[in-house]
Amino acid sequence: MDPHPPILAPSILAGDHANLAGSILILAEAGLSWAHLDIMDGHFVPNLTFGPQTVADLRKVSDLFFDVHLMMDEPHRYVDAFAKAGANLISIHVEPTYPIVETLQKIRNLGCSNGIVLNPDTPAEAILPYLQKVDLVLVMTVQPGFGGQSFRHDVLGKIGQIDHWRKDRALPFRLEVDGGVDTYTAPLCRDRGCDTFVAGTAFFKAADKVQFAAEIEKTPFA
Ligand code: DX5
Ligand code: ZN
Repeated sequence: MDPHPPILAPSILAGDHANLAGSILILAEAGLSWAHLDIMDGHFVPNLTFGPQTVADLRKVSDLFFDVHLMMDEPHRYVDAFAKAGANLISIHVEPTYPIVETLQKIRNLGCSNGIVLNPDTPAEAILPYLQKVDLVLVMTVQPGFGGQSFRHDVLGKIGQIDHWRKDRALPFRLEVDGGVDTYTAPLCRDRGCDTFVAGTAFFKAADKVQFAAEIEKTPFA
């Protein structure tokens, strides 16, 4: 399998929640193609963000690829609503108890790409049963719930392990990392096979967002 071209997907969690359309526009103006939308239910994570109506309204003002990350205890109950709202990819966590395989398949049946997500303390083996059924694996390098946290370097080995499984089995999924990603931590992840990078705080803090994106999307060993 050819490696996927690197993609930066800024998280609008770090944007302006009184003007998320403006935050999405900043991504487009920086020439980016993906937007990472963090959906939080206040149960799986101790925070709340926004729902399908917000996504639907953002869909009206943007043609970016919406990478929707469901941090929810019961994501299977919401995939229809987010697909209808205009998500392009819907990723769901492996930790809660719900019909994961069926939900992954349902996301695809709804016309979206799917992803499986694991938290920093969840062993890589937890997602082994799903690797053949996903378009993306999202490895959290912070405990989900809030932006602006420090990158967990202890997760780097897990990224390498998942990339090894991908290569070994010639699987086509994208390998995404999320949490504390910036121009220092992205290369560490890239060197371990990561090709898709979520950055919230570092992106919105960057004075030159085009330069920041170029740094993150640099091809490995460029
Ligand atoms: C955390 C979210 C991340 C977060 C990344 O629960 O899933 O996407 O917004 O934000 P930074 O890049 O600020 O760590
Ligand atoms: Zn996220």
